[in-house]
Amino acid sequence: MIIHNQQTMTFTLHTRSTTYQMKADGYQTLLHTYYGPRIRDCDMSCLIPYADMGFSPNPHAAGNRRDYSLDFLPQEYSTCGVGDFRLPSLELELPGGSHTASLRFAGWEIRKGKYTLPGLPAFYGTAEEADTLVLTLEDAAAGVAVELYYGVFEEFDLITRAVRVINQGSGNVVLCRCASLCLDFPHANLDFVTFHGRHTLERCPERAPLRHGVQAAGSTRGASSHQQNPFVILCEPDATEDAGLCYGAMLLYSGNFEAAAERSQYESGRLVMGIHPYHFRWTLAPGEDFTAPEAALVCSPNGLGQMSRQFHRAILDHLRRDPFQHKRKPVLVNNWEATYFDFTAEKLVNIAKEASSLGVELFVMDDGWFGVRDDDNSGLGDWQVNEKKLPGGLGALVPQINRLGMSFGIWVEPEMVNEDSALYRQHPDWALRVPGREPARGRNQLVLDFSRQEVRDHIYSQLKAVLSSAPVTYVKWDMNRSLTDVWSAALPAGRQGEVYHRFVLGVYDLLERIRQDYPHILIEGCCGGGGRFDGGMLYYTPQIWCSDNTDAIDRLRIQYGTSFCYPVCAMGAHVSAVPNEQNGRVTPLETRGVVAMSGAFGYEMDLGKCTEEEREIIRGQIETYKARCNLLHYGDYYRLSDPFQPGPFTAWEQVSRDKREALVSLVTGCASTGNVFPPLRLKGLDPALQYRVNGGGLYGGDVLMNAGYLLPPMRGDYQSVQLYLQAEE
Ligand code: GLA
Repeated sequence: MIIHNQQTMTFTLHTRSTTYQMKADGYQTLLHTYYGPRIRDCDMSCLIPYADMGFSPNPHAAGNRRDYSLDFLPQEYSTCGVGDFRLPSLELELPGGSHTASLRFAGWEIRKGKYTLPGLPAFYGTAEEADTLVLTLEDAAAGVAVELYYGVFEEFDLITRAVRVINQGSGNVVLCRCASLCLDFPHANLDFVTFHGRHTLERCPERAPLRHGVQAAGSTRGASSHQQNPFVILCEPDATEDAGLCYGAMLLYSGNFEAAAERSQYESGRLVMGIHPYHFRWTLAPGEDFTAPEAALVCSPNGLGQMSRQFHRAILDHLRRDPFQHKRKPVLVNNWEATYFDFTAEKLVNIAKEASSLGVELFVMDDGWFGVRDDDNSGLGDWQVNEKKLPGGLGALVPQINRLGMSFGIWVEPEMVNEDSALYRQHPDWALRVPGREPARGRNQLVLDFSRQEVRDHIYSQLKAVLSSAPVTYVKWDMNRSLTDVWSAALPAGRQGEVYHRFVLGVYDLLERIRQDYPHILIEGCCGGGGRFDGGMLYYTPQIWCSDNTDAIDRLRIQYGTSFCYPVCAMGAHVSAVPNEQNGRVTPLETRGVVAMSGAFGYEMDLGKCTEEEREIIRGQIETYKARCNLLHYGDYYRLSDPFQPGPFTAWEQVSRDKREALVSLVTGCASTGNVFPPLRLKGLDPALQYRVNGGGLYGGDVLMNAGYLLPPMRGDYQSVQLYLQAEE
C-alpha cells in the first residue's frame, strides 16, 4: 500500500510487516524518514535531529539556518559536491566540467501494478499484486531529472527500487555514478554481511560490525562474480536466524557492481548499491535517459530466516520466469564430469540409456559438441555441431535420446571466442581488446563484444540453427572468464566507459530473444559454476549452476550461503562420482543425493559405472525427489544450523506453505566416538498439529520445535538422514 499525505508531504509504503517512508521537506529535499517494522501512518521526520555542526555546509536555500545540512540529514537519493560528504548515489559531469548533483523534489505519481524496466531484469506484478510509486527530483542548474521508482509487494515485504536519469538540458551530461539504491539509517549500530568466495567456493557469508568510513563488496570482473555477490545484509548486532531486525538488499544485475556501506562521523548508516563506478561513464545527449538496474529490499523484524524466506517467495513468484514455474523440474544427467571433451554419440547415448533406466528425465550434452573442440583451447564462437563426433548432428542424436523417454539439453557459451576459431579468424575486432595491447587470456579464450548488435545477431543466428535442428528443451548458458581489456571497436573514445554496461545489456538482450523464441526452453545460467549467480540472471535463467564444486560437504556451505537470498530451486546441484573431482573427498552416495536434491537436482557422472547397489540407491533418490519436489523447491526454507561453525552436523528444513508437510535434511561431519547428537529442534511447523515422522512416531509441532527430535545414531563420516513429516488430524 502506498500512502501520500499532501499536508506532511510524506510518502509511506506499507508491506505486511514493514513500513518505509520519505518526505519532501520545506526546501524540497527528499528525506528518508523511516524503514523498519510496520507502524501507523504518521510523519516520522519528527525523529530527525537538526543541529549546528562544524564543517557541515548549509544549502543556500536554507538561508542562514546552520542546523540544516545535507551532511547529516537522511537522504533518499544522495548527491555529491553540494554538502553531503557521505557515499554519493549520483555523480554527474556537466557540460562546464563540474561534478556536482543537487536534487530537489519536483513531483510524484502512484500507479497500480509494478513498473517494468526496458532491457533490464525486474520483479513483475499485476495491479492486484504490486503498486508503483514514482518520485521525480530535479537538478535545475544541470537540466537533469531523476525519477525514483518504488515497487511495493506487500505480501512479500519486498520493496524494489530503480532510477531513471533524464537529460532535459541542451548539452551532454555524463553520468559517472548512478546507484540503484540509497538507504540511510538513523544509527550505525549495524552488522554488514557480505558473501565472498572464489571459483569452487562461492557465497560464504562474512559478518562484521559497520566501522567508521566505507566498507564495500563489489566486482569489476564484468560479471557479478564468484568473489562477491550483489546481495548484502545490514542487521542489528543481536540479529539471529529467528530474531532481530535485518535488511537484505539485492541488485538485479549481472555485471560490475558495488554495495558500499558507511558509518558516518555522526554515527548514522548508509548503504549505496548499484553499477560499480569503475570505468563507468555514460553520456546522455539532450533528451536521452539512462535507467539504473533494479534493486530490491526486504526488511525482516524477525531475523535472517524470515528475510530469506521473503526473498525466496518473491523470487519464485515474481522474478523467475520458469517454464516449470511451480511444477516439478525434470531430473537431469549431465555428461561433463563423466566424459569431459572425450565423447562420441554412442557414449552419450549409453550414459542416457543408463540414466533413463534409473528414472532420469533429461539428458544434457555439455561442452565439446561444436566446432573443433577437443579441449578448452579452441572452437568457442563456432556454434555448429562437430559432425565428426556427432554424425548427422542433433537431428540424429536427439531422437535416440527422446526414444529413451528423455528430453534433450545442450551447453553453450555464447559470450566467448577462442582465437583458434573460424569466428575469430574472420572477425578479430569482435573480441574485447585494447588497441596496441595484447589481451589477457582466461581459459585461453577472449570475450566477445556483446555491446555490439551485429556480434549478438551473428551468435544468435548460429544458436537458432542449432536450437531449431532438434527438440531442445534445456540450455546451459555458460561464461567462463572475467572481462579484461574492455574496449569496443564500435564506440568512440569518449564512450568506452559504457562498454561494461552495454555488454550486460547485450547478454540480457540475447537471453530475452531466446526466451521469446523458445519459451518452452529451460535456461540454466552458469559462470564457471556460480560466478554469475544474481537476481539479474534469475530473471532470464530460472536456475543457475551453483558451483563447479560438486563435493557434497563443500556444497553444504555453498548452498547455505546462497540460501540467504536465493531459493533452493534456483541452485543447480548434481550428484557426482567419488573421489570428488574437485577436492578428492569421498562421501556416501546417499549423502550426495540428500545435498543435491535440495537444489535443481541431477547427476553428473557415468551412471553405467555404478554397481547394482548404487543403482538401487539412485533409483530411490530419484523417487524421493520426484515425490518431494514440490516441498523441496517451493516450500519455506529454514536453516537449522550454520556449516561455517563447528558442530556435529549441518541441517536444514523445507516446510510446505500450509505447514502440513516438512522435510528435514541433515549431514554429519567427521565421525567421533561418543557422538551423541542433542535433539534437533525444528522450525516453522504448526505448533497445534501432530506430525508423523518417516511414517513412524507421531509428535506435536510444539514438541518438535521446542524440545526437538532425537536423531538416530550414525556411524562413519558424512552420514545423512532425511525426516519426512506429515501432519495428521
Ligand atoms: C564450466 C562449467 C562446467 C562445465 C565446463 C565446460 O566450467 O561450470 O559445468 O560446463 O565449463 O567447459
